[in-house]
Amino acid sequence: MKNILVTGGAGYIGSHTSIELLEGGYNVICVDNFSNSSKDIFDVIHDLTGKHVTWYEADVCDVEALRKIVKAHDIDCVIHFAGYKAVGESVEKPLMYYQNNIDSTLALCEVCLENSINNIVFSSSATVYGAPQYLPLDEHHSLSATNPYGNCKLFIEHILKDVHVAHPEMNIALLRYFNPVGAHPSHRLGESPKGIPNNLMPYICQTASGLREQLSIFGDDYDTVDGTGVRDYIHVVDLAKGHAAAIKKLATAPGCVVYNLGTGNGTSVLELVRTFITENNVDVPFAIAPRRAGDIAECWADPASAKEELGWEAQYTIVDMVRDSWEAQKRMNTNEKVTVASEAV
Ligand code: NAD
Ligand code: WQD
Repeated sequence: MKNILVTGGAGYIGSHTSIELLEGGYNVICVDNFSNSSKDIFDVIHDLTGKHVTWYEADVCDVEALRKIVKAHDIDCVIHFAGYKAVGESVEKPLMYYQNNIDSTLALCEVCLENSINNIVFSSSATVYGAPQYLPLDEHHSLSATNPYGNCKLFIEHILKDVHVAHPEMNIALLRYFNPVGAHPSHRLGESPKGIPNNLMPYICQTASGLREQLSIFGDDYDTVDGTGVRDYIHVVDLAKGHAAAIKKLATAPGCVVYNLGTGNGTSVLELVRTFITENNVDVPFAIAPRRAGDIAECWADPASAKEELGWEAQYTIVDMVRDSWEAQKRMNTNEKVTVASEAV
């Protein structure tokens, strides 16, 4: 494996993974339509690694564009990050989600099959487990989805499994991420959601910056350690390393494989907020609010399979995660001169 096509490589997880791949000696060819990212990321990646990503501005749903890109490079493996990812938006605009997330996958599979590209890594999500029947969640847990975003992940997993059945030479790694947070230790790239953040860590960071008045903690009456929701937060650099490990696994032609990428540890909302405040010595005003519709009480991974079969294990702690998230946010605030300050909360 040498040449890796990374769809959505300018995004949050794709950019961190591109760095890992470049540092691991791979060539990275990225295709992104920049619908949720910026081309500037490639200069940052070059500064940090001394290496170039070869990038194309194109829509992954565009089969012809993909064909041209693939013809120009001898691609060994594809990592498919491209897609829309906001759960709430997916409920409001289901067709937009199904069209973009499913079509891009179909186009990619078609071009891979035409060109004998036999290795695909897919960004799946712990959301495919639905409401946990038991914890920790292992890869054998039943699958379900409660919103169009989750349905897309589930459908795409089925599509890729079917592709493997029809084309056994195709090796596929379905990586189920838990809750990615944090930023590269240089703090020069991180998560920069457009508009009001849906996810907890970006909301905490923006509240600490004064961009949001206060954080609403959605429910303190769950049956959890302190009544607030519990999740398995994983540092984005650990997640990126998980992709490099998955590529090495695919090189052994394992067929279709599924791995949880999580730490195995649950952290409550209050624990995360308090750690953020203490470690970063910054205030985060918060108030308890009603539960958010569709939320589960708690969820964390059994990451044993990834450890045994990929030789991968998360290394970063919650303290690392809150520190790197905050340091990257402070840099963003300086660079962007706090441009979202006037948005409604
Ligand atoms: P992101 O929005 O930062 O990155 C996605 C990238 O894909 C963006 O650069 C965007 O411009 C691009 N893109 C979207 N549609 C495209 C298209 N049709 N053609 C070309 N480019 C397109 O998101 P992320 O957090 O880096 O997530 C990456 C993947 O991981 C997504 O598939 C997401 O569903 C999945 N995932 C994310 C999380 C999370 O919490 N961040 C958790 C589980 C799974
Ligand atoms: C974490 C906890 C909230 C915001 C979502 C998607 C999932 C995956 C990751 C892609 C929960 C609480 C949050 C806030 C809060 N994405 N919270 N106040 O819901 O676990 O997962 O992102 O695949 O599919 O559903 O993550 O960060 O939104 O919430 O109290 O302002 O923080 O209730 O307990 P979630 P999250």
